[in-house]
Amino acid sequence: MPTRKKFVAGNWKMNTTLAEAKALGAAVAKGVTDDRVTVAVFPPYPWLTAVGEVLKGSPVALGAQDVSSEKKGAFTGEVSPAMLLETGCKYALIGHSERRHIIGESETFINHKVHTALEEGLSVVLCMGETLAERERGLQERVFQRQVYAACAGLTDEQFGRIVIAYEPVWAIGTGKVATPEQAQEAHAFVRSKLRLLYGDKIADSTPIVYGGSVTPDNTVGLMSQPDVDGALVGGASLKADSFLAIVKAAG
Ligand code: G3P
Repeated sequence: MPTRKKFVAGNWKMNTTLAEAKALGAAVAKGVTDDRVTVAVFPPYPWLTAVGEVLKGSPVALGAQDVSSEKKGAFTGEVSPAMLLETGCKYALIGHSERRHIIGESETFINHKVHTALEEGLSVVLCMGETLAERERGLQERVFQRQVYAACAGLTDEQFGRIVIAYEPVWAIGTGKVATPEQAQEAHAFVRSKLRLLYGDKIADSTPIVYGGSVTPDNTVGLMSQPDVDGALVGGASLKADSFLAIVKAAG
């Protein structure tokens, strides 16, 4: 049975003031005392440098909630991978459902972002997952296949080594309706089977696939007990240091 280190990340979304972000980052940094679980926090862009400062010396990594598809130049409002690296970021979230379904990012655009981020030296947390309508029609596995194939098209084995996949059923995000451990396992196992088909055993067995969507300290153990669930991408519960640290502890 391949062993994959658990990965737990907090996606703060468009929340926190600068003072709140620094305090939250400092509390998480203080509470993570070992590297049994890889832990990362994803503050809003404007707070990245400040939170990066408070994380210094701790095992907690810094990530950005998005990244430009371009490396530099006349792209108003965009933030490049190089800029994120300078703030201390190791990771970038790409393809979050709120950017797919609210902002309207296409599969092609997401694949472009993935390539640019990896080429520039970031690691990528690639988000995917089905809507309620797609699940109700039994289309989830077709969605998983389309999203994973499109986002990962053209990647080298080395680049794949810097990818974490986050399965986030859209119907579970922010709703309190967490997927059952069995639903999460079924989705993760399917995604891993597609990685195996496309990229072989080494990539399939080593790529962490984490679950996101209404994760709380109470449902973490059940989710993490599944063989293909390698951690969590936490939204609301990551905005309180105690609950996020409880999730990290339960995942370890
Ligand atoms: O990226 C994680 C996020 O989408 C999950 O949100 O609030 O359901 O934990 P939440």
